[in-house]
Amino acid sequence: MSGVNACPSDTIASPGMPLAAALEIHDLHASVEGREILRGVTLSVPNGEVHALMGPNGSGKSTLANVLLGNPVYEVTAGRILLLGEDITDLGPDARAARGLFLGFQHPEEIPGVSVLNFMRQAIAARRGIENYSVLEVRLEVLEWTKRLGMDGRFTERYLNEGFSGGERKRNELLQMALLQPEVAVLDETDSGLDIDALKAVADGIATIRAERPQLGIVLITHYHRILDHLAPDVVHVLVDGRIVETGGPDLARIVEAEGFDTFRSKVTCP
Ligand SMILES: Nc1ncnc2c1ncn2[C@@H]1O[C@H](COP(=O)(O)OP(=O)(O)OP(=O)(O)O)[C@@H](O)[C@H]1O
Ligand SMILES: [Mg+2]
Repeated sequence: MSGVNACPSDTIASPGMPLAAALEIHDLHASVEGREILRGVTLSVPNGEVHALMGPNGSGKSTLANVLLGNPVYEVTAGRILLLGEDITDLGPDARAARGLFLGFQHPEEIPGVSVLNFMRQAIAARRGIENYSVLEVRLEVLEWTKRLGMDGRFTERYLNEGFSGGERKRNELLQMALLQPEVAVLDETDSGLDIDALKAVADGIATIRAERPQLGIVLITHYHRILDHLAPDVVHVLVDGRIVETGGPDLARIVEAEGFDTFRSKVTCP
């Protein structure tokens, strides 16, 4: 294990890290309703790597995901976020998405009246900077990916997330990720609420997308090592109380699951 005694604001480098990372977060502080939730998060995800982010309930994992995506509910009070070397800290969510930052939500929202297909058409057009993407083109592309991800094509005619089962919501997030061709994907508990087969399907789906986009950097927020068994993360981070208190290899995920977070809580010693 590494970094046990490191303060989170220290640079955390993974072995063989190239200079230009897909995502770099420097000493990020963020508050919501006047309460500081992120208290100095620093991490770097090189192109092509999968970084798992683990941590107890309420430690700030989803807050970090939201702050990365520029959700205005959260106020960044210090620190910087770089996407492929570009400082995106002050950009709005649309500009970030257009540059290739993708968030798979822990609780994807229903959008009544907007079909999966129409949503995808608009999102793809925004990402690729094309005004009028033809419905037919998008339909073909979406159908191709539903097949590759083992989904029923009829699914795309349904309203976004309306009546979707937990597993369908997660797969739909994956479909979006595949079609939006991001540079960095932050997946917030994409594995939660999935049965064993669905978990395997989602992990296979992520692997398929990675094979297509080898430069894609992934931050995978999870509570369980099960999905990590399929995806083999390059680095595992533990977030406690708004700070990364431990960074290590895949074994760290097993230690977390076996021992819980108490041992890590005692490491929150930095000012
Ligand atoms: N929009 C919000 N309004 C008020 N408080 C919030 C908001 N978002 C997050 N918080 C608070 O910030 C803290 C961290 O929440 P967050 O959702 O980031 O935790 P988490 O690590 O993702 O937990 P879990 O494992 O349960 O998903 C919690 O105390 C939560 O109540
Ligand atoms: Mg969460």
